[in-house]
Amino acid sequence: MMWDKLWAHHAKVADRRFETLVDTERATAFSAQAGDMLFDYAKTNIDLDGRALLIALLDQADVAAKRDAMFAGMPINETEGRAVLHTALRNLDGGPVVVDGTDVMPGVIDTLERMEGFATDIREGRFTGQGGQITDVVNIGIGGSDLGPAMAVKALAPYHDGPRCHFVSNVDPADIASVLRACDPTTTLVIVASKTFTTIETMTNARTAQAWMGQVVDDTGAQFAALSTAADKTADFGIAPSRVFGFEDWVGGRYSLWGPIGLSLMMAIGPQAFRAFLRGGQAMDQHFRAADWHENLPALLALVGIWHNQICGYATRAVLPYDNLLSRLPAYLQQLEMESNGKGVSMDGTNLEVPSGPVVWGEPGTNGQHAFYQLIHQGTRVIPCEFLVAARGHERDLHHQHQLLVANCLAQSEALMRGRTLDEARDKVAEKFDGEELERQAQHRVFTGNRPSVTIAYPQLDPFTLGQIIALYEHRVFVEGAVLGINSYDQWGVELGKELATALQPVVEGKQGTDRKDGSTAALVGFLQRNGVS
Ligand code: F6P
Repeated sequence: MMWDKLWAHHAKVADRRFETLVDTERATAFSAQAGDMLFDYAKTNIDLDGRALLIALLDQADVAAKRDAMFAGMPINETEGRAVLHTALRNLDGGPVVVDGTDVMPGVIDTLERMEGFATDIREGRFTGQGGQITDVVNIGIGGSDLGPAMAVKALAPYHDGPRCHFVSNVDPADIASVLRACDPTTTLVIVASKTFTTIETMTNARTAQAWMGQVVDDTGAQFAALSTAADKTADFGIAPSRVFGFEDWVGGRYSLWGPIGLSLMMAIGPQAFRAFLRGGQAMDQHFRAADWHENLPALLALVGIWHNQICGYATRAVLPYDNLLSRLPAYLQQLEMESNGKGVSMDGTNLEVPSGPVVWGEPGTNGQHAFYQLIHQGTRVIPCEFLVAARGHERDLHHQHQLLVANCLAQSEALMRGRTLDEARDKVAEKFDGEELERQAQHRVFTGNRPSVTIAYPQLDPFTLGQIIALYEHRVFVEGAVLGINSYDQWGVELGKELATALQPVVEGKQGTDRKDGSTAALVGFLQRNGVS
């Protein structure tokens, strides 16, 4: 019902130039703040009526009750019968969180303190490898066991004062080979990060790392740590319980950076900065739980997403950090958003009536400007853009360069909104051309404009702010999923490919024939075999 009202409203306003709406008042009315983070969505075609309908959608979907159920530890991941409580990992001073009658906070704090002890021992040289102080940490994991820490370690590079951190995720041997080549096995700690401790890529890479280290190190087990929910499997792998950091199944893989999966980050930046990161996440949780929907950043970000995807029909969303430290954020968000909300059925198993979550992609500005922005500005499909920008960088002596970065960010959202008319385009080239050629040349320089974007602005990318940003996006995913009525916390869509890969391995190796495969797959196997795969 509310969807119909929104589509009807959109039909009424679709052709309007939203630039005409944007004045100082709108800039205030269509922006909100959480702490010192600003979310601006004035450069969209959402007006007061549209926003009211979108907020009614939240009420229709009972989002507030669903949110409270999540924070209360209810099993909202219904297909797996699990609570969704990554928020407990950053609930530093927020009181008890009860799951099945038990307060999980003592366990959370105990694991955090164990991580802190281990990270400090590594950073201060009390825990050593066979060759002395640990110089390099290699995190082996994939998906949520890689993208979060890899993104965050890069994002907080200015705060690094610990060992070098490397990330290996791909089963492609080129990945691990290039990382290990740069490390000394006698001073390297390998972290095997896998919630299930069964993921084939991770376990294969872990065994490769074990063999590499075993060539020179007597007790490889002593230089391995594990991050997992599967204590039995980490023991089978030969990792001592003192270096196993466990977490519960109510922490989803793509939501796990806040706990043990963040160990490499903690080693890089230190426990204190890691706690600041947790506090940033916790601050966003508190904001999400308390702020009115009109002021609620995760809810508003989600509603803008719904407006653009389900209402306007824009199938993709570009995430464009004007903050090079966030260069891995788009990849991280691809898993967070697409694995969470890329579902075809709602919680009750019936087909979705509206499209599922959008394709999420992006690159840092200004690099993207010299690559794909052409299409964003003049292509025939509208791509809503999400800009992220800090007021200050970390390079004090290069602040003028940061100002240029900021100017570019603001210029892009302005250009997307304003565009350039044919008259303006003609003026641009009138000195060079005339007659028909002037018309032709001018057409190429027209920008339709009226292309929406939002901007997330913050003072500086420090650990607290990174925590705010990640929690903001997590809750945005939650709200979008809740409105769509889907389960954002399972990922059945990754299963089929995994099963077929396992079945295909003996075929690729030439141990089994291709007779039970389709013609295309059989032909591809044949080509690769003729060229040396088996
Ligand atoms: O295949 C998808 C997935 O299950 C992700 O959800 C998860 O983050 C990733 O694989 C890695 O899983 P694990 O941490 O259990 O190795």
